[in-house]
Amino acid sequence: MKVLILPGDGIGPEIVAQARKVLEVLKNDGLDLELQEAPLGGAAYDQYGSPYPEFTQNLAREADAILLGAVGGPQYDTLDRPLRPERGLLAIRKDLGLFANLRPAILYPELANASTLKPEVVSGLDILIVRELTGDIYFGQPRGIRVNEAGEREGFNTMLYAESEIRRIGHVAFQAAQKRGKKLCSVDKANVLETTEFWKEIMTDMAKEYPDVELSHMLVDNAAMQLVKAPKQFDVVVTGNIFGDILSDEASMLTGSIGMLPSASLDVNNKGLYEPSHGSAPDIAGKDIANPLATILSVAMMLRYTFNNEAAAQRVENAVKKVLAQGLRTADIFEAGTTKVGCSAMGDAVVAAL
Ligand code: IPM
Ligand code: MG
Repeated sequence: MKVLILPGDGIGPEIVAQARKVLEVLKNDGLDLELQEAPLGGAAYDQYGSPYPEFTQNLAREADAILLGAVGGPQYDTLDRPLRPERGLLAIRKDLGLFANLRPAILYPELANASTLKPEVVSGLDILIVRELTGDIYFGQPRGIRVNEAGEREGFNTMLYAESEIRRIGHVAFQAAQKRGKKLCSVDKANVLETTEFWKEIMTDMAKEYPDVELSHMLVDNAAMQLVKAPKQFDVVVTGNIFGDILSDEASMLTGSIGMLPSASLDVNNKGLYEPSHGSAPDIAGKDIANPLATILSVAMMLRYTFNNEAAAQRVENAVKKVLAQGLRTADIFEAGTTKVGCSAMGDAVVAAL
């Protein structure tokens, strides 16, 4: 199995180094892994003048799975838009057809106090957000900034979903719900936007193929509210690219820290790009204080979804639970009575627990 590692920018290299330690342990224990590395985002721009250069693209196309740290940093914010790190991430998602983004929000019992919500609101929380990742207003054409007929500058984007795009993410979401609590909530803004009115119509039609799954619909503004009011009502949530971007950040905070949340972005054959749900956190980069657990848990998702190795996935997840039970915490999840550790010490603790 070829795994391509893309450390990226900011805290990316630090957190990925910890996940790499985990992969090395699994390799030593007999998992057939070939690890390679390439730059993406700002790091790739620095080295190759492009956020998704051919060097990286070739290795990414060949790989069975990809592990990404994070991309972006303030030093790149003034570059032309096509050269910015975020474009590298969007380009690799589109290039590899990674349309299905799975973002679980699980509350570990040890971290119940790390959430800003009352423990009784979030304890036992286990939500899966299925976000469509290669369509919507993120990619719709036309887009740009132009001067209109009145001579005023204006910015514009196009929100667009083809039926096939909705159906393919719908299947992923319905099937995920079948394996979990059999509840699927489709989030839209059908009262205003035709694109998502259409989305709702297709999801409703698809529900006939999945009689064992209970489908509900919710407007995105209400979903944002319900997520903080009564988040445990959700099992699987399916939504488009832009709503999923926003709601997944919100859902991550229910669990106390975005530093705990892994994600998987899959193509039709379960080839995947695995990355923490958080960003590159330039403000804490290089300080060895970032939380590597989301990246390590992304390795677990890789083992589960691309390598179909549930036992190895659980081994990694159990190692993470064990270090939490031991009271080890990075700064983002620290509370009185626990032991604060840095990024690499946390990685070492997970390796020891493995
Ligand atoms: C995410 C990020 C990206 C997105 C950015 C970095 C382009 O916020 O993965 O959620 O908007 O998809
Ligand atoms: Mg986001």
